[in-house]
Amino acid sequence: MKKIIFICSVMAMIIFLASYTISERHKKRVNITITKDTPVQKILTELGDEKPNHVLNKSLSKTSAAVGEALFTKGIARKEGGSKKLQSRHFVCTSCHNIKKEDPDLRNADDPEARLKYVAKNDLPFLQGTTMYGIVDRRHYYDGDYYLKYGENVKKANQDLREAIQLCAIECAQGRELADWELESILAYYWTLGLKMGDLTLSDEDWKKIKTDVKDKKKHGEVIKFIKTFYLENSPATFLKPPTDRKTGYNLKGDPKNGKLLYDLSCKHCHEDTRYSYFNLDDNPATFKHLKKNFPKHNRYSSYFLIRDGTYPYYGKRAYMPRYTKEKMSDQQVEDLKAYFDLMSN
Ligand code: HEC
Ligand code: HEC
Repeated sequence: MKKIIFICSVMAMIIFLASYTISERHKKRVNITITKDTPVQKILTELGDEKPNHVLNKSLSKTSAAVGEALFTKGIARKEGGSKKLQSRHFVCTSCHNIKKEDPDLRNADDPEARLKYVAKNDLPFLQGTTMYGIVDRRHYYDGDYYLKYGENVKKANQDLREAIQLCAIECAQGRELADWELESILAYYWTLGLKMGDLTLSDEDWKKIKTDVKDKKKHGEVIKFIKTFYLENSPATFLKPPTDRKTGYNLKGDPKNGKLLYDLSCKHCHEDTRYSYFNLDDNPATFKHLKKNFPKHNRYSSYFLIRDGTYPYYGKRAYMPRYTKEKMSDQQVEDLKAYFDLMSN
């Protein structure tokens, strides 16, 4: 009898323990809600992805996204309770960077032809720097050939967003170094520009897969990887050379319609009314004649040269023109621009 009671109580114990662990496992079932507005980084963190080293340092006083936004778009944040001294006398960060999504499909964020159509439709400029929309979702900065331009400085900036901000403030914007709290404020602003799930080109099927798989903890690693296939974690950069024979150029037939878009959305962003450059560009025939005449020449006014090599800042003239990499203007687009200048000079 005793034996039976013993066996029964052992079995009861086993059943109790088993049901307890099952209910515990049940409790561990994650409840992650995902909508189109959910930030990608929030989901990844909830799924257990490693946090980036640019999570905000909240202990610095005076840090705020509003100060960061003002610094980024106006170069000064006096009204927001921030810096009273212009970051740069030559540029603001938005001279060269958008702050909205600029590529229709974030998997191909290196396609300038698709980007041109997209920015034209969305009333955005077409620029040499990459958009800051989604910068907190990237893990590498100044990628590819920027090593050739900035050398050792890029090594630190390649792995670290704070270093990348500081490098660009000094080298790209040709301005003063940012104080710690200013830098952290720009970072706080960047965190408001993170990718949302709705920015990813997910099909109905992909959504279903993600929503089902997040319920199963064992699949979280897979979901993280899957989500990351929908955007790039870096902005690729390939430096190109001007064509060797500037008369034949890139040997492609240009489309003046695209050329006009490039002129209006890119060149004029900096040169119209001498906004960020002393060199004025407008729609006067004389301006187009000047651009056309110099396009194939070996001089500092040649667009082939300016587009691919840019110019360099020097003492007394800090404003410079950044180059367009392969990802920021295709050879075809350079010829499109040339075709537009030809058309408008007639
Ligand atoms: C004169 C043009 C110019 C100005 C002004 C400028 N940048 Fe940049 N910036 C660039 C270029 C070109 C790159 C090269 C890489 C890229 O954006 O793809 C870059 C890269 C960056 C990157 C790394 C982007 C990436 O994904 O690799 C950050 C961050 C950045 N800039 C921040 C800033 C901040 C902050 C300011 C203002 C203080 C600023 N930039 C002003 C041209 C500029
Ligand atoms: C991010 C801003 C920016 C963009 C975009 C830009 N430029 Fe420039 N460009 C400059 C700056 C700055 C200079 C330096 C000269 C100066 O400021 O006086 C310059 C110089 C030039 C010069 C030579 C002027 C000289 O005096 O040597 C030409 C020509 C020129 N740009 C044409 C273009 C064309 C064509 C485009 C479009 C494909 C373009 N730029 C896009 C900022 C820009």
